[in-house]
Amino acid sequence: MKVAVIGTGYVGITTAASLGEMGHQIMGVDIDEEKIKKLQSGILPIYEPGVEPLIQDLMRQGRIQFTTDLREAVCFADIIFIAVGTPSLPNGQADLAYVESAAAGIGKCMDCYKVIVNKSTVPIGTAERVKKIITSEVNKRDQFIKFDVVSNPEFLQEGKALQDARWPDRIILGCASENAKNLMNKLYQGVQAPKYFTSPKNAEMIKYASNAFLATKISFMNEMARLCDTLEVDVTEVAQGMGMDKRIGPYFLQAGIGYGGSCFPKDVAALYSMGQQAHLEMPILREAQKVNQTQCDWFVEKMKGIVNLEGKNIALLGLSFKPETDDIREAPSIKLIDLFLRNGAKISAYDPKAMKPIQNIFPQITMAEDCYQVFDGADIVVLCTEWKQFQKLDWMRAKRMMRGNYLFDGRNALSAKELTAIGFHYWGVAKKT
Ligand SMILES: NC(=O)c1ccc[n+]([C@@H]2O[C@H](COP(=O)([O-])OP(=O)(O)OC[C@H]3O[C@@H](n4cnc5c(N)ncnc54)[C@H](O)[C@@H]3O)[C@@H](O)[C@H]2O)c1
Repeated sequence: MKVAVIGTGYVGITTAASLGEMGHQIMGVDIDEEKIKKLQSGILPIYEPGVEPLIQDLMRQGRIQFTTDLREAVCFADIIFIAVGTPSLPNGQADLAYVESAAAGIGKCMDCYKVIVNKSTVPIGTAERVKKIITSEVNKRDQFIKFDVVSNPEFLQEGKALQDARWPDRIILGCASENAKNLMNKLYQGVQAPKYFTSPKNAEMIKYASNAFLATKISFMNEMARLCDTLEVDVTEVAQGMGMDKRIGPYFLQAGIGYGGSCFPKDVAALYSMGQQAHLEMPILREAQKVNQTQCDWFVEKMKGIVNLEGKNIALLGLSFKPETDDIREAPSIKLIDLFLRNGAKISAYDPKAMKPIQNIFPQITMAEDCYQVFDGADIVVLCTEWKQFQKLDWMRAKRMMRGNYLFDGRNALSAKELTAIGFHYWGVAKKT
């Protein structure tokens, strides 16, 4: 099938690559000329494991192309994905400007029946809104063209996006017509995953409710961690014991410095604001956000109870919001750096992929050349993002380079036993030393 993907960010490019891999003909389109230029030369503008070689492979086979010309993409495709950003407005609502602009663009140049598939995370009722915008643009041209709008929310996780696209837990398809349902079935026939057909509105809510539930799970464990820390209980063992219960499951139970990224914070805020618009209290969502927004403050207060930060050199490990991505949107590292600087500390940081965008926000901090230079003269180490390479460091070597010996593990990802044996003063988030 011929597929256009509007928006070639983290979701769009992964969708394009995985559909291309399934044998479909793909055209990716973006308003960002630099991004498209890079993609046309086979360079991925973001870091996402495995996607760049797959794109290069598909280009060699002539199965994928990129353009800034929306008309070309719309006329080329039977199925058009919208995968543009839906960032937060200051009041927490999702900003639909990019989705609406893409819909208007489709309506301006659509020439025959198409299925428009919304992959962006959008408020309930957006499929209907997209339909109205397209119809209005088509009518302006005195045309009558049939089309369907499908809601197909995306659940991939950055850092393992390709794996999630190849082997999703489920494919949610909000379809209002049999024709659209058949075409979506055909499009995804190569994917071994249950397909759940429902209405577009239900599909839109499934996405928000899923993300809000996962975010709440994390905040719940962070709240438990605060109590565990006071009562001298090891929250990592509590999580392990809880996770053995099939009704709870072992995932998203890790306490730490809170969630970040381009999805959880904005999606919980958007869902909360949908509640407000409907004159509904959403106390669980409100408190889940509050715990997350204060988790770094709690962490730094704990640090300050152990060591004075004033004038200290802090080695900060990891800056991206999670491992295996260069994405720093809403990354806890931003909050931590801000708090450390306010407390008079000096920072040297290292991240395998995300140093440049953080340096743009904080030009006053030092970016280390490698994962050992970051320890040079440090009094305190703080693990912020649990990249695998930090778990495999030669910690003896790291310690020799340091002035002090404090280590604060914001992700409970390091071995307390091993580090304490080397001579570190180790503290994890409510973790036994
Ligand atoms: N990033 C994730 O992990 C993830 C996971 C699931 C769902 N989502 C959702 O998917 C959507 C996209 O997220 P993302 O992280 O890929 O965003 P992104 O910011 O990485 O990419 C969005 C892209 O859309 C392009 N764009 C904007 N308007 C356009 C237009 N009119 N025409 C063509 N291109 C346009 C931008 O230039 C950008 O390249 C969001 O709604 C997000 O909530 C994201």
